Amino acid sequence: MRDHNSDYLPCTMTLLDGPEERTLRVSFDRIADRYDETRAYAEGVPRRIAEALERELTTDCAVLEVGVGTGRIAEPLRTHGFDVVGVDVSMGMLSRARSKGVVDVALADATSLPFVDDAFDHALSVHLTHLISEWRLALAEMARVASDRLVSMVTERDGCDLEAMQLAYEGACADAGHKVRHPGLRERELADVVRPMRKAHVAENTVGLYVTDAIERYRERTFSDLWDVPDDVHQTAIRSLEERYRGVERLERRERVVMMVWAMRDIKELITTSGQ
Ligand SMILES: C[S@@+](CC[C@H](N)C(=O)[O-])C[C@H]1O[C@@H](n2cnc3c(N)ncnc32)[C@H](O)[C@@H]1O
Repeated sequence: MRDHNSDYLPCTMTLLDGPEERTLRVSFDRIADRYDETRAYAEGVPRRIAEALERELTTDCAVLEVGVGTGRIAEPLRTHGFDVVGVDVSMGMLSRARSKGVVDVALADATSLPFVDDAFDHALSVHLTHLISEWRLALAEMARVASDRLVSMVTERDGCDLEAMQLAYEGACADAGHKVRHPGLRERELADVVRPMRKAHVAENTVGLYVTDAIERYRERTFSDLWDVPDDVHQTAIRSLEERYRGVERLERRERVVMMVWAMRDIKELITTSGQ
């Protein structure tokens, strides 16, 4: 195992020189308490994710999870024997991770990682890069501090109920003149830009929920791409969801969890050819 203990700041949680608005734009502090409940994996899925990573990476390597959040991925990895370090810009999310035993964490921005070159073997990025307008810079940083692979767990949804609700919300916003968007590029979209060396099906994740709870999550803007929606547009979109789902009781979130693995040299090449 690589000795990287002197290369990170396990408990200090200092914000390291990222422009303030970049941090605040996506601050997950506001939903840290509800994050796990709203992004729950079905029983057994976290274990299957950890097993897939165990097959791919082996546990004797050093892994950095960028945008570690509440440790939804890092915690099962840790219990499977991985040496995982996490960074995030949200103190609230990191506190949740620490309460689950993911203690090697630092408050830091993906675009300015507080580690020396090649401090880790692999970088893990799950549901992160779409939040960062400078996603190329974040990838460049991951490729600088991790030498071997970039790994993600992406979710693929094919027309499940929850995706239909998302499209209905976005459609209502568009009708009211606002386009719902995120500033960066999703990890699964990165596969269209740089070919992954491996793509493997990990698990089916099916979670049921009540329509009233699902609409409440929209009303409370639990999802980050809703944070920029102007209030009047948001209220109109919520009314439209209530109308559309009147009389419907339950929904299903049905998605495939897919592991994508890139060789860091290919990520480096993307950064070099795109001028970062
Ligand atoms: C959607 S959550 C994903 C968390 C975790 N990877 C998971 O899959 O559960 C995105 C996380 O990325 C963090 N984040 C957003 N922008 C970031 C940045 N520029 N640098 C580091 N973390 C960031 C957020 O604070 C949040 O905890």
